[in-house]
Amino acid sequence: MGPVNTRHHQKSIASVLAQETIQPIRWQYDGLKLLDQRVLPERVVYLNIDDVYATAAAITDMVVRGAPAIGITAAYGVVLAARQRYQEDPTTWRDNIKPDLRHLKYARPTAINLAWAVDHISRLIDTLTNIDPVPQLLAVAQRIHADDIAANRRMGELGAALIGPSSAVLTHCNAGALATGGYGTALGVIRAGVTQGRIAQVYADETRPWLQGSRLTAWELAQDNIPVSLIADGAAAWLMKQGQIQWVIVGSDRIAANGDVANKIGTYSTAVSAHHHGVRFMVVAPSTTVDMETASGDGIPIETRAEDELLCIGGKRVAPAQVSAWNPVFDITPAELIDVIVTEKGVVERPDRNGITRMMDA
Ligand code: MRU
Repeated sequence: MGPVNTRHHQKSIASVLAQETIQPIRWQYDGLKLLDQRVLPERVVYLNIDDVYATAAAITDMVVRGAPAIGITAAYGVVLAARQRYQEDPTTWRDNIKPDLRHLKYARPTAINLAWAVDHISRLIDTLTNIDPVPQLLAVAQRIHADDIAANRRMGELGAALIGPSSAVLTHCNAGALATGGYGTALGVIRAGVTQGRIAQVYADETRPWLQGSRLTAWELAQDNIPVSLIADGAAAWLMKQGQIQWVIVGSDRIAANGDVANKIGTYSTAVSAHHHGVRFMVVAPSTTVDMETASGDGIPIETRAEDELLCIGGKRVAPAQVSAWNPVFDITPAELIDVIVTEKGVVERPDRNGITRMMDA
């Protein structure tokens, strides 16, 4: 992160952000707007988010989701908190904002990007004097946002270069523009691969129970006229058995120092199936998703969400009344099942601690 932007530089970052065709997060008219991903694809609605507690609730409730997107949202949430606390008391705001930042940081536990963004911007707060902090913090949030899009475009090129002509690929969950600042990680590679003629066919797991695949991935690929075939999650192994796909391409919520990867529940079983069938497995994530403080996947907290996400569909209960459910929403894919991890800093084949360390130091 370079020095804080001038007003002109800030304006040009804002215009870069405005060029993205799918914008899950907007800073407009001095406020935060989030595309409500709970109601896509049926409705395209932006919610106005007025304060830091509403920002944290939007993250917990999955108005906005996807590791990079919740990190960026949190950065804007800090701007909202600073504006409020500075207006209340310009001399004590730096202390008064601390509980807000803690609350925001723990809105969801698995994606490290959320904690990364809050910690990054908190360190800047410690250096600010008693002038209005909003312009500086907003510049940093917009820089985090723009850097994420730039990283995605770079990863798109790096990842697509690994794919042979006319390949078929399978993706899981939504690691697209909706899950990031724009363009996407796994879907960034798919966008670049389709443009270059390397990818001829895209399959998307529907991704039970929240249906990120059928609701979000299918919607955003359709916006770009990229044909996609949905499959039930349980069909992935059978698709591989037919020799129908060459690559599985997914995002990540956190990559441990040894290359173990946390991602949407079902990623692990897809990786096991890919390994069994000789299908290659690619993880695409910005370096802000790499957590060098966590030695292996065993140290990554896995979020468990409400049973109703499994027991009900569209608000209507489908399981019998007396039945309970277990709903972990992420799993860990061990490094040995991964062929390649792509970040904007480079590509790590057969990831392990050495490879990840070299890539992060690059
Ligand atoms: O529960 P979600 O929808 O936030 O889970 C999202 C994922 O698992 C994504 O694959 C991951 O965050 C990478 S997004 C680029």
